[in-house]
Amino acid sequence: MSLLLAMTGWHVEDWRARFQALLPDMPIVVLGEPFDRRAVHYVASWKHPPGSLTGLPNLAAIFSLGAGVDFLFADDKLPAAPIARIVDPDLTTRMSEYIVLHCLSYLRQQRRYDSQQREKSWDDDRNQPAARSVRVGIMGLGELGQDAARKLAVMGFDVAGWSRSPKTIEGLQTFSGEDGMKAFLARTDILVSLLPLTPDTRGIINAGMLAGLAQGGRLGGPFLINAGRGGLQVADDILAALDAGTLKGATLDVFEVEPLPADSRLWTHPGVTVTPHNSAMSEPEAIATAVATQIGRLEAGEPLLNVVDPARGY
Ligand code: NDP
Ligand code: OXD
Repeated sequence: MSLLLAMTGWHVEDWRARFQALLPDMPIVVLGEPFDRRAVHYVASWKHPPGSLTGLPNLAAIFSLGAGVDFLFADDKLPAAPIARIVDPDLTTRMSEYIVLHCLSYLRQQRRYDSQQREKSWDDDRNQPAARSVRVGIMGLGELGQDAARKLAVMGFDVAGWSRSPKTIEGLQTFSGEDGMKAFLARTDILVSLLPLTPDTRGIINAGMLAGLAQGGRLGGPFLINAGRGGLQVADDILAALDAGTLKGATLDVFEVEPLPADSRLWTHPGVTVTPHNSAMSEPEAIATAVATQIGRLEAGEPLLNVVDPARGY
């Protein structure tokens, strides 16, 4: 019985070493090397090449090495095995750090002061809004969205959230579905996207959505932070809104094509902050431990946790 590591873009040997330490009796095999396909019971994947997981007759589970699973559903030859994703405090904490960092950066105008320092300009702006007067709207109230909401509230922001199904969360104003979208956007100064990429959410951050954001807020216009998936956003619509001044800034961690191509205007637009899909890095020690725990559960006859629903796509 073996675990197959199938990944692109990451250092597979770091993962192999970590998994081998956690599962000393289990052969850890790697896509691209010769291995016995019949022996593979488990796959741990991050963006495996589509079609590369066929011919595994004894597969019992597929583990995404991230929280997202869109790359799995994008493989139309994916074997029919249960899929579990990562829900782990290490990953969640990293994401909330990123969201709080960039909300604070917009609140405290950090890009402006970076640029003033380059110019040796002592422009002491006395118009400093309080966090309580800045309305953050989080799209996606799952593991990540709810944690970010709690931590932003601790910083004093006025936080609301939007999800597919209605939710009651203490201390948080919530909206849901298409019916709740308009009111949610209209009270949002900083729009945070922590949605999964599904057929329903593809392209959701578009001109129509951006036009619905609050224009009269204390930051002088709305901002966007997308750490969900690149396929959620229409880059040209974001750039057009920035150029028109109806969007004041955008922090993007995820892109339709990654790495972001060198000729993308997102790299150079003064209103855009680009980070390389590392808002919540999958850290091998934490994430391999989470997967090894799941394998231990299956071996003990216990049910898998954090199983995704193929019908919903997340
Ligand atoms: P969850 O599955 O826990 O939460 C997803 C949330 O999105 C839920 O609240 C869900 O609503 C909501 N949602 C899904 N579809 C819709 C829709 N059509 N309309 C409105 N709301 C919708 O996921 P996580 O919080 O763990 O992760 C979210 C995403 O973050 C991942 O899928 C991944 O793409 C991204 N991610 C990015 C990382 C990075 O490094 N940039 C790292 C980790 C994750 P409901 O509650 O009603 O089901
Ligand atoms: C992701 C992750 O899903 O890194 O992007 O967990």
